[in-house]
Amino acid sequence: MSTTNSLFPAPYGLAQWARWSTLMLLALGVAGYAFWLVLTSTRPDFAASLFARHPVGALLHMVCSPVALVVGALQVNRAIRTRHLLLHRWLGRLYVLAVVLGGTSGLSMALEAQGGPVSAWGFGLAAMLWLCSTGAGFLAMRRGDRTAHRDWMLRSYALTMAAITLRLYIPASLMAGLPFEDAYRAIAWLSWVPNLLVAEWLIRRLHRIPPA
Ligand code: HEM
Repeated sequence: MSTTNSLFPAPYGLAQWARWSTLMLLALGVAGYAFWLVLTSTRPDFAASLFARHPVGALLHMVCSPVALVVGALQVNRAIRTRHLLLHRWLGRLYVLAVVLGGTSGLSMALEAQGGPVSAWGFGLAAMLWLCSTGAGFLAMRRGDRTAHRDWMLRSYALTMAAITLRLYIPASLMAGLPFEDAYRAIAWLSWVPNLLVAEWLIRRLHRIPPA
């Protein structure tokens, strides 16, 4: 089977719908949490201090990044994508805009992230890669390179999913009894590096190149 066929492979099976539904539920849960932080008047101290230090950045980040998270989940669903190509194009533009706003505001907040320079570098690098991979995916589509577009957008969404993995690792680390600051520094990296490695593995599989 050729590489091009991997863009249009076999029908979406039950297992794929189950995996995608899990992803969508997690995306909606994290997006709902972010909107709750923006809307509620009884904000946790941490979020309140973020809003105090970065009034514009925190608002932009917490409104736009959840849009990228939920829209991106719709975009990675092959069944939706192939049946509704026009919708995919418009949602793609919305995703890019949401990442540009969510990523630049995330980058500005990263400099003062909890946990000091280790967290700042972790979140800062993630934000830069998020912006670059999304930009590369957008430009690939503009020049008609669908394979490169798919690969870069998979990397981009792997980074978007850091929002989910981070919020799974934080309670897990607290339950394991790890000191919050140390765990947070590690999670600033662990929330996205393994995601990107999985994306690279998936991309290689799609290209049918055996992993090195
Ligand atoms: C690679 C992508 C992302 C980066 C680099 C990033 C970066 C950051 C940074 C630096 C902070 C402040 C943390 C601190 O001060 O300790 C933050 C907070 C936050 N981010 Fe992101 N972010 C990303 C993606 C997302 C996405 C997709 C969402 C979607 C819901 C999101 C939602 C939030 C929320 C709700 C907060 C407030 C603090 C909290 O409750 O965790 N972020 N982000």
